[in-house]
Amino acid sequence: MTASANLISTPLSLPCGKILPNRLVKAAMTEWLADPADNLPNEKHCRLYAEWARGGAGTLITGNVLVDRRYLESPYNVAAEAVDLDDPERLALFKQWATAIRKHNAVSIVQLGHAGRQSPRSVTSEPVSPSAVKINLPGGAGGVFKKPRAMTEAEIEDVIERYVVAARLCKEAGFDGVQIHSAHGYLLSSWLSPLVNMRTDKYGGTPEKRRLLLLTIVRRIKQEISGMILAIKLNSSDFQKGGFSEQESLDVIEELKNLNIDFLEISGGTYEVAAMAGVEGEPSSTQVAEPVRKSTRAREAYFVDFARQVTMRFGSQLPLMVTGGWRSGLTMNAALQQSTMQLIGLARPLCIDPDFAQRLLAMHPSEDVAVVDHKIDAWLPVGQELRKTLMLGLISPFHIALMAQIAAGKKPSTNDINLMKLLTVDMVANMIYSPRRSNPLRTVRQWLGFERE
Ligand SMILES: Cc1cc2nc3c(=O)[nH]c(=O)nc-3n(C[C@H](O)[C@H](O)[C@H](O)COP(=O)(O)O)c2cc1C
Repeated sequence: MTASANLISTPLSLPCGKILPNRLVKAAMTEWLADPADNLPNEKHCRLYAEWARGGAGTLITGNVLVDRRYLESPYNVAAEAVDLDDPERLALFKQWATAIRKHNAVSIVQLGHAGRQSPRSVTSEPVSPSAVKINLPGGAGGVFKKPRAMTEAEIEDVIERYVVAARLCKEAGFDGVQIHSAHGYLLSSWLSPLVNMRTDKYGGTPEKRRLLLLTIVRRIKQEISGMILAIKLNSSDFQKGGFSEQESLDVIEELKNLNIDFLEISGGTYEVAAMAGVEGEPSSTQVAEPVRKSTRAREAYFVDFARQVTMRFGSQLPLMVTGGWRSGLTMNAALQQSTMQLIGLARPLCIDPDFAQRLLAMHPSEDVAVVDHKIDAWLPVGQELRKTLMLGLISPFHIALMAQIAAGKKPSTNDINLMKLLTVDMVANMIYSPRRSNPLRTVRQWLGFERE
């Protein structure tokens, strides 16, 4: 392989024996396309993923599929719990989703999650968490989330079982693998943080105890889906003083490597500091954030420094996927040339341009292929802090809207500002009002084709 080759198009063999066709992975993005009445995948999911598979990314990771329907991240999530394995009709919907992804020979991975204390008011009046620590968000946004209560040991055992059953569903449905979501402040990620996990039982108190839940789930799922891909998404850190640190993350990674997982996806941040989306760490009130390094922010890909540390410590035994900020093919290719990581995770660019992967694969290594980010937040009639949380944070209404357009068979368009404004209001409303009750904006969603009448 010459230094000038386009490494993006080279396949990658994983420890389980599966081969990823190229180095581009569509990272998990919650689709908000399920009907809240059933939380099942539907034809919109199939159309969206078939389009991404056609668009060239060798591997597609679904948006988080929730293992417990009581603690969704949005009323519009797909929930594994919505399916009983003895119910062929519901299982068939998951099978259709897997088939849509594999149609263009893409590898299909389901991301399994539990929203924990980041489950909004519209979903639950009593979110659960390792300890009763409320989310701290600026500009009144914190009101979207109720104060959580600490989980009992029986509930912890139940969560472990739910992950295992959900992994079994993915296997039965014909997916190629499973990714455990342990990033961005959701349940398993919050479990690792000393700021949220203040337990004094066997699941908290020391870094080793805080990581017990994640490692138990990984071990159990590994047994359950032997021969399939098992990946983990982990924060490099929470970017909060006293939170989950890079050192602790490296220690967790060592254990994951010893468990022979297939690849590790590196991200960072939580709803409180949205580092995963390139938002710098700012104090949101009482908690002081660890500033995201200027160099990290300035660089296109947010977590390459940390990936380099992981590679220095563990060599290339553990395949790494780095997600967040990639926009130019030349930068991606250079990082692959330096063996900083093996897989490039792409999220928002594939909403803006579903063909971006294809263009990257065809790229001549001396020319660049890039996607342009849109500055779409300036018009939002809210304070700067809240705007950051809404638009640059974890789940932006803008990208949800683009996914809805692709799912409806349309070309994604970023031009209709009024539509985007409407969607932002809709999004906030849907975090607060249960769609099963009287959400005043439900008709808007129906009109936009997000929901059935
Ligand atoms: C609309 C939207 C939904 C997201 N949903 C998820 C999710 O379900 N699970 C997850 O791990 N990350 C999720 N993310 C984070 C992305 O996977 C990714 O880490 C982040 O967008 C940074 O990558 P990018 O710069 O390529 O967009 C989401 C991001 C967006 C924009």
